[in-house]
Amino acid sequence: MDNLKSPRDEVRTGPSSLLIRDAHIWTGKDIIRGSILIEDGRIQRIARRIPERADEEIPARRLVALPGLIDAHVHLRDLRLSYKEDFTSGTSAAAAGGFTTVLDMPNTLPPTDSAQRLQEKTRRASRKILVNVGFHTAAVKDRRAAKAMKAAGAFSMKLYLPKPIAPLEVEDDLAVVQALKAAREASLPVTVHAEDASQIETTGRIRGFKELVRSRLGNAETSAVSRMLRLQTQIGCRVHFCHLTLPSSVSAIDDLHSGRLSSEVTPHHTLLSEDSVVKLGWKAWMVPPLRPWQTSNSLFRAMATGTATIIATDHAPHTIREKRHSPLRSPPGIPGLETAMPVMLTMVNKRKLSLRRLVSLLSTNPAKVFGLSSKGRLVNGADGDVALIDMKKKGKIDPERFFSKAHYSPFQGWRTQGSVHTTIVNGSVVYREGEITGKPGSGKVLRNGMRY
Ligand code: NCD
Ligand code: ZN
Repeated sequence: MDNLKSPRDEVRTGPSSLLIRDAHIWTGKDIIRGSILIEDGRIQRIARRIPERADEEIPARRLVALPGLIDAHVHLRDLRLSYKEDFTSGTSAAAAGGFTTVLDMPNTLPPTDSAQRLQEKTRRASRKILVNVGFHTAAVKDRRAAKAMKAAGAFSMKLYLPKPIAPLEVEDDLAVVQALKAAREASLPVTVHAEDASQIETTGRIRGFKELVRSRLGNAETSAVSRMLRLQTQIGCRVHFCHLTLPSSVSAIDDLHSGRLSSEVTPHHTLLSEDSVVKLGWKAWMVPPLRPWQTSNSLFRAMATGTATIIATDHAPHTIREKRHSPLRSPPGIPGLETAMPVMLTMVNKRKLSLRRLVSLLSTNPAKVFGLSSKGRLVNGADGDVALIDMKKKGKIDPERFFSKAHYSPFQGWRTQGSVHTTIVNGSVVYREGEITGKPGSGKVLRNGMRY
């Protein structure tokens, strides 16, 4: 085996190959026993036996090989918010969580609201990322600006209804219609944060986090979802609804097959409730907020039975110092990249969710929704993005050990079963058993080339 080279300590100049040997491979329907050969970043062959040698081999007898996970909603921050998270720390967290592709949100400083800003972000990211990254941009009314952002690779225009990212009169239907038309003409989907600002209580006295959460009730979501469905019907653009918290919202959007609408739920909204806010305060404060237990329970069931299109984490890191401010000054958001798989695999082990559904929600469907046609499946010719899972491994959520800069989580202390063992991006091992093995630059910046 003296020709075995580790890609970790060489500068790769020529072709490279990686062989995942004897894994349990998720085929999209069931699990087969076999090996996966990845060459030059693409899956070359999946077979019961592959006799060839490769530059690097991973013995995977006890591991399940899944298509690399795709998180369509993360906030990697960087730029002037690098103190909260940067491209390297955020994509290291992704790698540790089994995510080989993430789509980053535009509410940065400065915001990603023009083709030029997107290009600047792309240049900066390409040197720093360990997994593949694509970018969402802010919603704008100007058609030329929308087309230019699409040409620069944008994956969607984000319409943030409670507070626009770039100037836009979000409460005015005419302005929103113009933005939807611009998106349609640019062949860009619109990703929506569906909370209606006029339904958020801002007058009452807010002393604690529980009152803060109660000031943003589900009717803010219901009203924004029905407004957006009405406007979408008028314009016909593609709309993806971010982090829905109510089963009624998810069922209103159960329409992936029309190819125009999709819905997203998060691990925290499906597994936690307002009780966590009472117990943990700022650690459980995000928007939209956690809901009563009955609601999150039925949201989980809606997800497990197939009405939601995707799971995303809404990884939204802040510093603990910022989070510990009084409720009205505490920024909403929690990190999620490193907890999503352990908590969801625990649900699979408890038979509350099937592995098939989890893979659809975390890989196959996000690839479909965002036009990542060479991802989301383990087949010949697909990109060499793989998550190797140990279904038996027990653990405990410990935010101290996160690669994210945000060392807190409402899942802190949860006992889990099922964990990410190895993460492979474009045919290179970037994470293995608790360690980051990839280098900044091993991920690619993705550009959306899809027509919607
Ligand atoms: C997000 C953030 O911090 O960027 N926070 C959150 O609670 N989800 C902003 C947002 O998406 O509202
Ligand atoms: Zn978000």
